[in-house]
Formats: sequence, structure tokens, C-alpha cells
Amino acid sequence: MTTPRPDLLHRLAVQTAERESANLRRRLRTIDRAEGPWLEIGGRRLLSFCSNDYLGLAQHPQLIAALNRAAREEGVGSTSAHLICGHRREHAELEEALAAWTGRERALLFSTGYMANLGVLQALLARGDLCVQDKLNHACLLDGAKLSGAELKRYPHADVDAAARQLAAHPNAAALLATDGVFSMDGDVAPLRELAQLCAREQATLLVDDAHGFGVLGDDGAGSLGAANLGQHEVPLLMATLGKALGCSGAFVAGSAPLIEGLVQFARPYIYTTAMPPALAGAALEAVQLAQKEAWRREKLAAMIRRFRHGAAELGLPLATSPSAIQPLLLGSADAALAAAQMLERQGLLVTAIRPPTVPAGQARLRITLSAAHEEAHVDRLLAALETLRLPAASRAAGGDPV
Ligand SMILES: Cc1ncc(COP(=O)(O)O)c(C=O)c1O
Repeated sequence: MTTPRPDLLHRLAVQTAERESANLRRRLRTIDRAEGPWLEIGGRRLLSFCSNDYLGLAQHPQLIAALNRAAREEGVGSTSAHLICGHRREHAELEEALAAWTGRERALLFSTGYMANLGVLQALLARGDLCVQDKLNHACLLDGAKLSGAELKRYPHADVDAAARQLAAHPNAAALLATDGVFSMDGDVAPLRELAQLCAREQATLLVDDAHGFGVLGDDGAGSLGAANLGQHEVPLLMATLGKALGCSGAFVAGSAPLIEGLVQFARPYIYTTAMPPALAGAALEAVQLAQKEAWRREKLAAMIRRFRHGAAELGLPLATSPSAIQPLLLGSADAALAAAQMLERQGLLVTAIRPPTVPAGQARLRITLSAAHEEAHVDRLLAALETLRLPAASRAAGGDPV
């Protein structure tokens, strides 16, 4: 007798039930209204510390006006892929502005950061190649490597020597090293200069995903590479998103003109998808200009980060070594993180509990994000609520460096 074919829907339901019983089920919540850092959910107004709107641009009237203007002139949808008839003036102007800001020859828009990373890795890598990645890289970098068919090696977080050993073990394979610039769940910055030197020595190509550094780091907001003074020669592949500090949606890859031309030819998530709405590109161009010009947004964000870190260190909270807008509090178990988030919500604060598999087992946390849209009083309110948290002793002992 043949064994019956497994039922895929049943298997998925079992996996979901397992998540539920391990307290790891993710829940979708509908936000009824957003107003700066305030979110309304089910009739309650909550002060949010979980958005990636680091510069407070998502509701800027100039972005909204640019979006409206372009929508009036061009309509809503781009109506096709870039290579058919979807590539509009707004896209071209945004690409030029992004290339100029990041100091690269050219930039290429993608509909999302996820697709940009899939596109770059799939276009560049093939079976038999080597892809070396930080263990804490964003999921889409890992998925891109898997899609490419290359051999994926993951080194312990920020361990340049381990990355060097992985490259040295495959001296003849074409190799790409990929790292987040600012790590999305930890907020720390990758050892970018050391990684660039390693890649130069090993003739490996370096890809930096600066989703969380772009707009925020560097004097002019050009990101973690700008802050580290690393140009196109040292870091040939820069990817960043428009959906975080720029308050819009979408992403881009920036680099040499031949690289971008190659992506246009071979990056399937670029070729076989509808171009982002031109109105969105128009709004993002406005965001680029504001983010460059209004340095006070970065200064205000930095002041919020300092205030939070100082207050959290005084309270003995388990801070991580993060200089960025992402300030995780490591609580260990998924139960502890969930209980802390629920307790904060009862006090009118929205902070997400991040649990496995998004972070490694035993490293569940509150992912607190700060924004230029916050005021000092908001940060103080968060600190006051955190003071009432009963943190597990081990987490307190783990500590972090203070300010
Ligand atoms: C480091 C990193 N890269 C890429 C992405 C994906 O970008 P997008 O949301 O535009 O798909 C994210 C988060 O969303 C991220 O945190």
C-alpha cells in the first residue's frame, strides 16, 4: 500500500499550532489611525516605539503634496514593468538623486528591499560560488543567497576573522560577502572598514544592506558607508530602502554603471515586476531632499537616542551596544518579552516583542525604535514605564555598555 500524500494545508496548520503553544505566534494588528508616533488601535491611542520612520518624514506635508501632484499628473499605477513602459521621469530623477547622495555612479530602484537583495544576489551569484554572510543578516539576504544556488556560509556576528577563514577555505570560488550596515534587530553597526579590507585582500565583492543606516548615519545622512567614508571602490554594492528613514516605500541598489546595467539585464525581481508607482517615486525624491537638507532631524534623533540610553543605563536595563535608532532590550525568553510588551501596552505604549525565529532562541527582546518625531517627554514616559518592568535577573546581568 502506498503512503498517503501529506496534506499541505494540514501541515501548515500543525506548524501554526506549534507556534501558538510555544508562545511564538505572530499576530497581525490593524492600526486605525497614525499621527506621528501616535497610533490608534481598537479605540486606544498608543505612543509607538516600533516604527522605522527614524526621521519623522512619513507624514510630512511636502511628501504628501509630491505624492498628490504626481498622482494627479501620472495616475496611480506605473502600468507595467520598468523595461516595458513603467519607467517614468519620477523614477529616473529619484535614481539620479540617490546616486549623487550615496556617491555612486548609478542607482536602480526596486519595489522593496526584499526584492532588491533577492535581485542582486540572484543576478551575481550562481551554483559553485560562495556567499559569506553575517549570522544576524536580514532574512532577505539569506533568502537571496539560497535563491542564487551559491554555497552559503554564515559567520558569527561581526566576526571578521571568521569571515576571513570562510573566504580562505574556498580560494578559487567567486565570492560575495554580504552584511547589514546597521543590524535590524540589534542596532549595532557592522565592522565595515575591516570587512572592506578583507574583501579587497580576498578579491571578494562586498554588499552592504544599509536599510537602517541610510538617512540616519553620516553627517549628510548618506548612511553607514558615508559615516565610514567608504566609497564605491571599497563597497561596490550598496543596497538601501526608502521605507524606513525616508518614510516612503521601495529600495535601491547603487554602484558602478556596469553593475547597474548588469542588474537591469539579469535581476529577475527588477525585470519581472510592475515598477513602483511614479507618485511614490515623486514623494521619495522629496524625502531625499528633505533628509539631506534638514540635518536637525538627525540631531534630534541623536538627542533622543542619548536620552534613552542614559536613562536606561541609570535604571540598569539590559541595553545593547547600539548607537543607532534601534535600541533593543534583551529579555531572553519569548514569554518575558511578550509579557513586557503587554505590560507596556497597558500603560499606553506600543513596543514590539521580537521572538524566535526572527532572533535566535533565548534572545527575545523588546525592539525599541526612536525617531525624530519623538519628544523628550515621550522618551521619559517610556523610561518611566520600563522602570516598572520586572526584568529577569540574567538579562540585567548581561547588561550592555551605557551611553
Ligand atoms: C536590513 C533590512 N534589509 C532589507 C529589508 C527589507 O526591506 P523592505 O521592507 O523594503 O522589503 C529590511 C526590512 O524590512 C531590513 O531590515
